[in-house]
Amino acid sequence: MSNYFGVYGMGVMGQSLAMNIAKNGFTTSVYNYEDDVTKKFMDTKAKGLPIAAYYTPKEFVDSLEKPRKILMMVTAGKVVDIVIESLLPYIEKGDVLIDAGNSYYEDTIRRHNALKEKGIEFFGAGVSGGERGALEGPSIMPSGNEETYRKYIEPVFNAIAAKTEDGFVCCKYLGTDGSGHYIKMVHNGIEYCNIELICETYDILKKVGHLTNEEIREVYLDWNKGRNESYLLDITTQVLNYVDERTGNKLVDMILDKAGQKGTGKWTCMDGLDIGCVIPSICESVTARNLSAIKEDRVNASKILVVNPNKEVNKEELINCLEKAFYSARLICYAQGFSQLREASKVHNWNLKYNDIAGLWQAGCIIRGEMLKMITNAFNKNNDLVNIVLVDEIAKTLVNDSDSYRKLIIMAIENGVPTPTMSSALNYFDGYRAEKLPANLLQGLRDFFGAHTYERIDDNGSGEHYHTKWEKF
Ligand code: 6PG
Repeated sequence: MSNYFGVYGMGVMGQSLAMNIAKNGFTTSVYNYEDDVTKKFMDTKAKGLPIAAYYTPKEFVDSLEKPRKILMMVTAGKVVDIVIESLLPYIEKGDVLIDAGNSYYEDTIRRHNALKEKGIEFFGAGVSGGERGALEGPSIMPSGNEETYRKYIEPVFNAIAAKTEDGFVCCKYLGTDGSGHYIKMVHNGIEYCNIELICETYDILKKVGHLTNEEIREVYLDWNKGRNESYLLDITTQVLNYVDERTGNKLVDMILDKAGQKGTGKWTCMDGLDIGCVIPSICESVTARNLSAIKEDRVNASKILVVNPNKEVNKEELINCLEKAFYSARLICYAQGFSQLREASKVHNWNLKYNDIAGLWQAGCIIRGEMLKMITNAFNKNNDLVNIVLVDEIAKTLVNDSDSYRKLIIMAIENGVPTPTMSSALNYFDGYRAEKLPANLLQGLRDFFGAHTYERIDDNGSGEHYHTKWEKF
């Protein structure tokens, strides 16, 4: 008997996806490079589910109904190419390969084009939600050939994906070639930014407000009942509450302040800069991780650059301003992410539907949260929206809360607490709404030393470029 679907790669994500697919009634074949991992999986988690294990790529491929549908959940990078190579001798024209890892979108485009020549349908699918999400319902961002998707992949992905309370399925066909992985990359940029914003609020509450872990947790529990509700804030309250078995202290206090990263946030910034996007807060959140990583340098500098700025604050005012700043900064973070998607859609001719993207981020994924409902609604009304900060409801909030936001940043600065991402979001707000920026002087300087030319304001936007001989030599 042939199985409907194949999962290659039995890491935690692969196992969870295979179980989710099988639980939804699709007979599933699984394969992993190391046999013992597969065996253990079959003896434990796969028990009672319509899952069959195979121990060579050939047996695995042969076990599948044609056209074969194989989802690869392996480490992004070279491994994906190695896995494809290992399957190529056995798969045939019309078969479908899906890369569900965090692959770089340009690799996905390359693989898509190379496999197209062999008649293999290659799909990139961003999958978000971690191990639990993969098992109970992830948010999925697929791209590739639409006809094949609708016929062979959609039924499976729609069944396993997360659903919102109103029944929205958190998986939509998003576009051709690398668009799904691009969208997942931007999701991760937003994820980095949201995480860093939470960390900055924690630092402020601790160092400016002198709140205890428990008090900070109370603040977050309260925020999480309102407009700032999000998965990340929810898990923050759980992390803050966890007791370390070794010491009896709160575990968060025992963790070294040195952050890791696998590179997706960095890709978001690199690509954003390449296509000329304005995504400073996302980039600051990547830089903040880099700064955390140079722990030894910081320890050393803390002994040399000794200043103790200290200004009393009113705790209630601090928390009140912080809630507003946090909400505005998060809105701005999504604004930057969606503006990047808009640019990328133009550059790559992807014709992205932003209501689908915002919609499928409403459940299952790491960046899910209350504010995505409002963002989805905004794009439901207008897919050509230039920037979500211009939507009435969002613009009003940003404007009304901006005084508190400024006060908050001042309180942090006056107490020497860094807020790279939160300050940068306020700067984005002020920069984006600035009718005039000092780039007139910038252009003058460029023209002075390099004859780079400038446009004039009294030229009716003719686009004519001028050069001035600023000095005599
Ligand atoms: C998700 C996450 C996940 C991602 C990690 C890695 O949506 O489930 O984005 O796919 O791999 O969060 O992020 P780091 O770069 O922080 O390791």
